[in-house]
Parts: sequence; structure tokens; C-alpha cells
Amino acid sequence: MKTDDLLQLLSTDSFVSGEELSRSLGVSRSAVWKVIRQLREEGYKIESVTNRGYKLVSSPDVLSEAEIRKGLSTKVLGSMISASQTVDSTNEEAKRQAALGAPHGSIFVADQQTGGKGRLGRVWVSPPGEGIWFTILLRPNDAPVHAAAITLLAGLAVCKGIRNQFGCDAKIKWPNDVVIGSRKVCGILTEMAAEMERIHYIAVGIGINANTPSFPEELQVRATSIALELGHPIRRCELLQEVLLEFEQLYDAYFVQRLPGFIEEYKNWCVTLGRTVSTFHAGKEISGTAIDVTLEGDLVVQLSDETTITVNSGEVTVQGIYGQ
Ligand code: BTN
Repeated sequence: MKTDDLLQLLSTDSFVSGEELSRSLGVSRSAVWKVIRQLREEGYKIESVTNRGYKLVSSPDVLSEAEIRKGLSTKVLGSMISASQTVDSTNEEAKRQAALGAPHGSIFVADQQTGGKGRLGRVWVSPPGEGIWFTILLRPNDAPVHAAAITLLAGLAVCKGIRNQFGCDAKIKWPNDVVIGSRKVCGILTEMAAEMERIHYIAVGIGINANTPSFPEELQVRATSIALELGHPIRRCELLQEVLLEFEQLYDAYFVQRLPGFIEEYKNWCVTLGRTVSTFHAGKEISGTAIDVTLEGDLVVQLSDETTITVNSGEVTVQGIYGQ
């Protein structure tokens, strides 16, 4: 039985009987009871009333080092985990610790960021209890030219993690935003310290709107959370573990196969392809149809005169997907 399915059934305004739960989940009542007991031990408040059944009152959902370690099946990612209640930005914390020698695979997580950073100097609002705000510190023995691909892998890992765990139709907006439908559910900010030939470290900062209950009106058309999509809160720890595992597998394989090993899978989930996009190219705004992602991870855009250009960075507006 999937614990998430049980939580979903319990997340209604009315009580659900044990019999109904066991019928809906296709398991015995004692199996249902065992999982309810385990959830209560984990801090879920599940009310039970004789002859009426069960109802989920609140979920614990802590992102502590112990909770993250429990059930984390990565080999290297998370060998060092720093989990804080509050930091300015997990990317800033990762960079500070990188300067002090934090090892490859260190993870920096915070329940709340007071100075969460988005791309292009934007603010990334990071309230407590709502998101998964974390940074993966990598020290690849590689040239800086490979850093962009690692960012693509991070988007793919989040997209796969959300799809695997919740069955949501998560997709990637090139290069590495993750969207559900037309709304953004995750943003990624990668920072790097390097010389011409050698990367010192890469800090891959990932912000997933996990349990955000609602967004301010002006953001509602652009942003969503997994909880809003599913209609119930999720366990952030489990998604974090899943994303770390996906990322580690992709990252390890990347050093063997490089981008050709993933580009088909990436393209499969890339919502940008086939859509009208606009961006700035050589100093002027252009618009056309996104037709491909190259083996280098660049976006190929076909213009109205049938010529193509490749875009390798910057902001791309995708018609039908939230604005910037
Ligand atoms: C974007 O889409 O603009 C990127 C957002 C990246 C947000 C994450 S949250 C964890 C990490 N720490 C930060 O300050 N930013 C990234």
C-alpha cells in the first residue's frame, strides 16, 4: 500500500471508515491500522472516532538531518547533510561551506530562507514549512563547459522525482524550470566557482513548491505547488530523497555517457518543444518555434523564414506557459 494514497483518502473534511479505507486501498484493515499507527509515530495527527473512522488533522513534515537520512538510498549525495531551521540562502550557505572544504555531495537544506535567491537577481520567497529549499554541492573533476549540462540534469531529476512519487504531469521548461500544467513548481539556480580549465565547485540550488497552500493573487497563474495539484500536503522528506536519488543516478551516468545519454529523455519531458517561444538573440527580440534541444543542451528555435538559431542561455518566454 502506498502511504501517500492513504494520506490522500484521509485528507477530506469528513471521517473515512476503516472498512472504506481497506476497500479503496485493496488491503486488510489490520494493514491500514498498522500504517495509521506508523504515521502517528511519525507525528501525523490522525483523529479516530468510533463508528465514524479516521481523519487527518495535521502532518509533521520536518526536514531534519535524521529524517532525511532515514530512507536515503544515495551513495554519495548526502554524505554530509546540513539541515537548518533558517538560513539566508542554502546556496550562500553551500558556498560558505565550500570555501571551508565541504565535500562533494554535501546537501544544504533549510526550512526557511530569509534571502532566497532566484535567477537574474530575483527574490525566491521561501517561507517555513512550505517548500523544499536545498542546495547540492558538487566538485566534479571536469571543465566548466560541462556545468550547464549538470543544471539540465537537476531539472530532469526533479521532474522525474515528482512524476515517480505523485504521478503529477511534471514537465521541464527549458532549461531547467519544472512546471505542472502551465505553472512553475520548481526553480533552479546554479552557481559555480571555476578557473578556465577546472571547476572548483558547483552549487545547484533547487526550490520546490511542495506544500505551499496558496499563492498571492498575482502569482496564481504562474506558480503552483505539489499540494495544490494533489489536494493534500506531501511529505517533503520523501520527495527530497527521491530527487537526490534521481539526481545521483543521472549525475553518475553523465560522466560515462555525457549528454547524449539523456537528451532523449530530457526532450521527452520538455514542454518547450513544439511551442512558440520568444527570447533576446544578438541584441534583439526574436520569436519562433522551439524545435529541438541539441547534444550540448542548447535550444533550437526555427524562425518564420525557416532559418534556425540556437539559444544557450538566458530567459525564454514560452507561449501557453506562465510568464517570467
Ligand atoms: C529561479 O527559478 O529563479 C531559481 C530559484 C532557485 C531557488 C532555490 S531555493 C534553494 C536555493 N537557495 C536559493 O537561495 N535559491 C535556490
